[in-house]
Parts: sequence; C-alpha cells; structure tokens
Amino acid sequence: MKGHLESLQQAHPNFHLQVCYSNPTEKDVEGVDYHHRGRIDLQLLRSTLKLMRYQFYVCGPRQMMETLVPALAEWGVATNDIYYESFGPASLIKHENLTRQVTKGETAFQAFTITFSKSGKSIPWDPGADSLLEFAESQGIEVESGCRAGSCGSCQTGLAAGEVDYNQAPDADMDSGHCLLCITTPKSDLTLVA
Ligand code: FES
Repeated sequence: MKGHLESLQQAHPNFHLQVCYSNPTEKDVEGVDYHHRGRIDLQLLRSTLKLMRYQFYVCGPRQMMETLVPALAEWGVATNDIYYESFGPASLIKHENLTRQVTKGETAFQAFTITFSKSGKSIPWDPGADSLLEFAESQGIEVESGCRAGSCGSCQTGLAAGEVDYNQAPDADMDSGHCLLCITTPKSDLTLVA
C-alpha cells in the first residue's frame, strides 16, 4: 500500500503523503521510510494542515476511531465533515452513528430501556455502545457471537418488542422476529429474548 500511495503522490502535486508508524522496526528510518513515529493524532493534524475547512475520511482499527474521531469533533470539525470506517472484526460504522456518538447528549435523554427477558434484566441503553451486542456483553448478559459484523448469524436474538436500527445491511439470513445484535442499536425500548 505504501508503494501505491507514493506513486499517487508522485502523480498528483496536490497529494501530500504523511506516513505514521506506531511501531517502526530497527530498519525503518525516520524521514525516509516514515515521517512520524506514533499514531496519527490531533497534534499531527494541527501541525500539518493549514487552518481551513476540511472533510476527514478516517479508516483504521476501532481503537483509532475511538480516539481520533471524538478528537476531531472536540477540535470543532463539524460532524458532517467526518466520515469513518473501522476495519478488522468491527463493522462499518455509518455516518449517522458518528453523529449519535459525538452528540451523546441528544440520544442519552431518549433513555431507551433494554429488557433481556431470559436474564430478567431491564437496563437503560448506553448511547456510547456501538451495538446491542457490545451493550449486552458490558452488562454481563451471555450472548453468542462470532464475526461481529453481521455475517455469521451467531448473535441472532429474538426481538419480542421494539424496533432496532441496523448499522449496515446484514449478510446473514435471519428468522423473522429476530435481529442481529452485533450490527444493531435500539430505535425504541426493546425486549430481547436473551
Ligand atoms: S456475530 Fe456474526 S452476525 Fe452477529
């Protein structure tokens, strides 16, 4: 990928490549093989970008999203100008969800209640949770899971009441009256058969 990016930089004068290595090897020479040691962060963006409006497209592992994306929002970048996608087992996160995450107050007050009927627990939804699967796990509710990306169907759970929002179209086939916890968030109070 680095060779491809370098060829793009050579072909386009308005393409400015900054390579960050969080863990360079002994053979990697700073200034030759990479430009910055460490992960991309707000300090780097501030020092390399001129002061003007930008659109940010961020793609990387989930930990990177969890630090960089809120930092951009805190820096004052409008949520409409931030797009991100996490890779690895995490699922694609749509832009609407970004808005929901960086403006937590908006949805926090909707205070959906998630009832896990088998476990006998009713718990207020945490708007910071990426999915119902993550939320269930954080509450100690035992739920099957596999891919965590809507593909394997392992997290299929009965939806006895309420409606969910899908972060992405599910690949796995589902039985009616069920949902995939790994790619859904609540749209209303829910009762899940878990
Ligand atoms: S864990 Fe695979 S579809 Fe949810």
